[in-house]
Amino acid sequence: MDDDRLATTNITPGITFYKEEVKTINGVEYRVWNPFKSKLSAAILKGLDIEILRGIKKILYLGASTGTTISHLSDILYKEGYIYAVEIAPRVMMEFINRLVKYRNNVIPLFYDARLPEEYLDIVDRDIDILYCDVAQPDQTKIALDNSDIFLKRGGKLLIAIKARSIDAVLPVKEIYRKEVEYIISRGYNVIKVVDLEPYEKEHSIVYAIKS
Ligand SMILES: C[S@@+](CC[C@H](N)C(=O)[O-])C[C@H]1O[C@@H](n2cnc3c(N)ncnc32)[C@H](O)[C@@H]1O
Repeated sequence: MDDDRLATTNITPGITFYKEEVKTINGVEYRVWNPFKSKLSAAILKGLDIEILRGIKKILYLGASTGTTISHLSDILYKEGYIYAVEIAPRVMMEFINRLVKYRNNVIPLFYDARLPEEYLDIVDRDIDILYCDVAQPDQTKIALDNSDIFLKRGGKLLIAIKARSIDAVLPVKEIYRKEVEYIISRGYNVIKVVDLEPYEKEHSIVYAIKS
């Protein structure tokens, strides 16, 4: 946008999802992608290359919540692809469906535990372009990798939101990120970048890796 904020073209004009700001420019409606509410927006503003989203068709998203970030990925994909969205909490899933899924036909809600990918083996494709994990759990990196091993295509992109304090309450955050990166490498992935999300999110980062 003209003021350096990110925005996506609203593929359902007139319908918004999290009280986000809307701007209409030359008759096209854009939804401002708030970096304080979406870690992916924060990561892009902090240096994650937005080009990694170009040309993608299939996304597996772990930890859908009510769909803030997914709504923007859904705008980006439009008719070119779809998002499998895994969420474990029943009430959250209901809100996600009522708020977003019923308006968007490129979002496939999966009411499952992301720790048990074998339960959705027959539903999710095995050539996913981007796996995004934001489950905010102590074992979030293992959850992401167990899913990536199965569903992400070779050369596919893995984005893991690391909530440092859900992993360790006392270690310096940089040390927590270093250990997570070491673990991702030990599982055979190439770590490209670790993006610290301050000032948008305290003690969070996004790790970007590629499946070899
Ligand atoms: C930090 S929120 C995600 C926010 C979301 N990524 C966004 O940007 O809009 C974490 C979500 O992960 C879900 N979650 C936690 N553990 C999970 C699991 N094992 N399987 C699936 N979802 C899980 C929680 O219920 C919660 O809705």
